Order: sequence, then structure tokens, then C-alpha cells
Amino acid sequence: MNRMVILGTGSAVPERVLSNEDLEKMVDTSDEWITSRTGIKNRHIAGKGEETSRIAAVAAGRALAMAGLTAADIDMIIVGTITSDMGMPSCACLVQKELGAANAFAFDINAACSGFIYALDIADKYVRATPGLKILVVGAETLSARVNWEDRNTCVLFGDGAGACVVTGTAEDRGMLAGKLYSDGTLYRLLYMDSAPSMNKELLCKENDGSYIKMAGRDVFKYAVRSMEGAISSVLAQEELSVDDISLIIPHQANIRILKSLGERLGVADEKIYINLDKYGNTSAASIPIALDEANRQGCIRPGDLILLCAFGGGFTWGAALFRW
Ligand code: UT7
Repeated sequence: MNRMVILGTGSAVPERVLSNEDLEKMVDTSDEWITSRTGIKNRHIAGKGEETSRIAAVAAGRALAMAGLTAADIDMIIVGTITSDMGMPSCACLVQKELGAANAFAFDINAACSGFIYALDIADKYVRATPGLKILVVGAETLSARVNWEDRNTCVLFGDGAGACVVTGTAEDRGMLAGKLYSDGTLYRLLYMDSAPSMNKELLCKENDGSYIKMAGRDVFKYAVRSMEGAISSVLAQEELSVDDISLIIPHQANIRILKSLGERLGVADEKIYINLDKYGNTSAASIPIALDEANRQGCIRPGDLILLCAFGGGFTWGAALFRW
């Protein structure tokens, strides 16, 4: 059976760092509140020339270098993002342009914070059918463009960045073993972001009251913990494995308390959950591939290790993916 393996990982974040102390000067908040309620200390914020596609292309270039490939070797580019530079074309087409990946076709996935897991799952299906394909899977966001910088409930949470991996097929018994995706659109009002106001006045709905992220934090928190636990249990059951077999869980980085709760419910030691949200905040679709790249480059993942990725985000969308490295 063909499986999808990761040949290289890469990540990139904008240069400018915004600390909790900086935020204290912008809204009524404190380092103490942000740190104790979220675990976040810093986040990177994009500036001129650091559009989503540009950061994504830098991350992708690093993944290609690790894989020992060039842009011309890539057959397909999938970008998980809700903050593409433009409404059209897709961010993936702009990444293709930046890289000069002339042999690839490219498209975006809108699954909010689960965008990377969704993109990975799609790549897995392609590679199982055509193992020779080389696919660039990216999660990239500049959420700084879509938060209300006067709303302390949300502006302290998010950051900008991108992560990428290059995948292909193998006949060896390693790579992506199982994946499971879920959505529940009935709950969309708990976490959503408007697009540009409709020019067709009949389509204006009452949610079109600004282009900012809006979130019912406490509700999202509860769903995030339960949903990620369910997705993880499902992929483990599919492979008849237990959580004790897992070497490392790389979850979406939204809140340290969500991750601690998840660990407690699963019965997993803290050291088995990779956490870097103190440095980057919640980077939505970029958070898992940035963490995966860091863990990979730091040598936290060894050949043969079982690695679990899991995400939860707006939609609602959620899912998990299980790899043997
Ligand atoms: O990535 C997609 C998925 N997103 C998530 O998973 C996020 C899930 N939710 C969360 O992470 C948490 O719910 C938050 C971090 C967003 C909020 O933490 P919380 O412990 O649920 O706080 P809360 O919203 O219940 O607010 C508690 C208090 C409120 O004041 P009162 O009403 O008790 O007087 C808020 O107004 O904290 C206040 N507050 C703040 N205070 C200082 C809210 N934001 C801030 C702030 N600084 N930045």
C-alpha cells in the first residue's frame, strides 16, 4: 500500500515581534492575564512585503531545501489559509508564482485553524493514488490583518506565520497511517470572520458588521478540547493503537489551557505535547506546520516515532492525522 511521507519541513514568521507588554499599551490587558489565560508571551506581526503568500513561499523554500528538491519538482501546491493576500487568485497560485513552481497546479483550502490538516489529508489521497507526485502542503496566515486591534478579547491571541512540508508517496510501511476530518457548520456563529461587504445588498446579512474575527471564547474552548480528543481517539482506534504508543502530539496552538485539558483527558504526559504558542500565539492554519518544523529541526522526532497532529477551528472544523516518521 502506498503511504504519504514527509520529505522536508520549513517555516517562517515575520520579523516584527509584538509582546504582551506592547499590548498593555494598546488595550486594557496585562501580561499576567494573557500569560495565565492563554500561555502566549509574543506573536509575530507582518509588515510591508510580508503578505501571507510571501511568508508561505519562504517556508516552502525551506521545506524544499530540506527535501533536496527544487520548485520545478513540485506537481501540486495546497495552501490552508483564511487570510490570502487577495480574494482571487488563491494564495497557492501566488506561492507558485513566488517559487517559480511552473509544473504545479495550486489551490487553497478554507478550513480556518484546521486548514493544514485538511490540506494534508487531501495530499494523502492524491499520493496514495499516484505515489510519484511531489506536493507542497502549506499553512499560512496573516491574521493581524483581520483582528480588531481595539478588542482585547481577540487581539491578544493571534499571530502571523507560515509552515510547509513537501510530501510524496512510498511503498514502505511508514508515513501517514490514518486521518480523520470533521465539520459542523451549525456552530459557525461561535467563531467567524466576515468577508468584504456584499455589493449585492440583498445578500447583506446581519453578521456583515465589520471584517473582524469574532469568537465566543469559552464555548470554542469546550468544543476544541472535546473535538480534538474525539478525533485523536478515532485515528488511534482505526490503527488499533493506544495513546501510550504515541511519541509526540503536535496540536493546533490556540491556548495552553486547551492543550493541558486535552492532555489530561487523554492521559498523556505534558512532555508528549509539543507547545510553542508562547512565541507565536495562535497562527491558525500555520500553527501545526510551524510546530512540526520546529520539532523536526530540534531533533524531537526520530525515525519510527508515531506522531499525532490535531486541529480545531472556525467552521467548526477539526481533525487529526497519524504518522509513523
Ligand atoms: O484557534 C481557533 C480556536 N480558538 C480557540 O480555541 C480559543 C478558545 N478560547 C480561549 O482560548 C479562551 O476562551 C480565551 C483565551 C479566548 C478567553 O479566556 P477565558 O478564560 O475563557 O476568558 P473569558 O472570555 O471568560 O473572559 C474572562 C474575563 C472577562 O471579564 P469579566 O467579564 O469576567 O469581567 C473578559 O472581559 O477576562 C476579560 N478579558 C480580558 N482581560 C484582560 C478578556 N480578554 C482579556 C484581556 N485582558 N486580553
